[in-house]
Amino acid sequence: MTPPQIPPPRPVPEAAARRVVLVRAFLLLALLGNTACAMSGQIQERTSRSSVSLGAAAQHRGRVYGSAVSQQALEDRDFRSLLLQQVGSLTPENGLKWEVVQPQRGHFDFRQGDALLRLARRHGLEMRGHTLVWGQQEPPWLQTVASSDLGPILKAHIQMVVGHYRGQLRSWDVINEPISDDGSGLRRHRWWRALGPEYIALALEWAHQSDPGARLLINEYGLEAETPAAATKRRGLLALLRQLQRRDVPLHGLGIQAHLQAGPAPGRYDALAEFLKQVQALGLEIQITELDVDDRQLPGDPELRDRVVAAEYDRFLAAVLSNPAVRQVTTWGLSDRYTWLNSQAPRPDGRGQRALPFDEALQAKRAVAVMRERFTRATSATVSRGDRIATEQSTQKEADGIERADAVLLQQGILR
Ligand code: XIL
Repeated sequence: MTPPQIPPPRPVPEAAARRVVLVRAFLLLALLGNTACAMSGQIQERTSRSSVSLGAAAQHRGRVYGSAVSQQALEDRDFRSLLLQQVGSLTPENGLKWEVVQPQRGHFDFRQGDALLRLARRHGLEMRGHTLVWGQQEPPWLQTVASSDLGPILKAHIQMVVGHYRGQLRSWDVINEPISDDGSGLRRHRWWRALGPEYIALALEWAHQSDPGARLLINEYGLEAETPAAATKRRGLLALLRQLQRRDVPLHGLGIQAHLQAGPAPGRYDALAEFLKQVQALGLEIQITELDVDDRQLPGDPELRDRVVAAEYDRFLAAVLSNPAVRQVTTWGLSDRYTWLNSQAPRPDGRGQRALPFDEALQAKRAVAVMRERFTRATSATVSRGDRIATEQSTQKEADGIERADAVLLQQGILR
């Protein structure tokens, strides 16, 4: 059965806006002569640049800009219209997690996911699936289940949820945060305890059978920093990706969450860029899936925070958008009015986090200009909308570090 196609990207709305601006500029020119001509040129340039949405800027280079969205945010009309103006893709922030989708054993609730999908389709946007195996935001009933039942329960969940959206979601974060916090091995959550390391391959297989056209991702956090812990995590994850590929497990991409921290020293992303090259060499698509910049460590002054946060977006995007395998950038929210950081990582001074591109009043902050510029100047993506990724076999010689990481994981019985 051929799954229905995701509708093509909606037409870039600013083309019409630009025409209007041009006509106005022309009239002005006719009226005011040469001096006005130079001025209107500047105005036109400014107007058309600032009216380019983030989604349209990304689309110029074959990329997609998206945002996660919560149920609460969707009910805010002003926020919703900003969202629809800016993005090419939507991720349900919580709406497809276990606790929402299967609150009682065998009872599935797709209302939130379905509503988001309807909205996405109405506006020609893609929707991402998030997430199937994580170990968090799970319903209480799972705790009462015998370990031997967890395999069939996971299989049924994946078949039901992925099957429900078959042909309609371009990609799924099948496995969320598989590597332990210290990077030394796999996270020991209930799925690992019940099924062992094999849970990863099994979940990917079940998802693939349920929607053969969906791109299946492993999604991970804590990979960005230039710290020993992040380096260990990158090595471990790379080893895992290679192992899965060797076994022909259906895995199409890697999600980099990218919950960044703005600190006293600017973040450096050279090691991340190197890592992304290695992932690209495996023929995997890369998505930035949850980008935001936690400003907890910065002083209260909003202007200062906006400058530092924008600079962090700038450096990060410069590093990742130089890689053509990076197909999509999703921020974890769009406006500071709705950011998970205010509840999960509140600022000690009680002020709201300024972590996202738009502020609480839905006004564009400096980060928007920076992001737009980075999208516009980036090299074109090799993975464009709707294309199946070419599985380019890695010809890269395995680096010593990766081999060592493999060995460590093998010793721990993480990989077969
Ligand atoms: C967060 C949501 O934003 C919150 O609303 C919720 O309370 C907790 O989860 N990594 C992930 C996301 O993969 O699913 C998390 O989302 C943020 C961290």
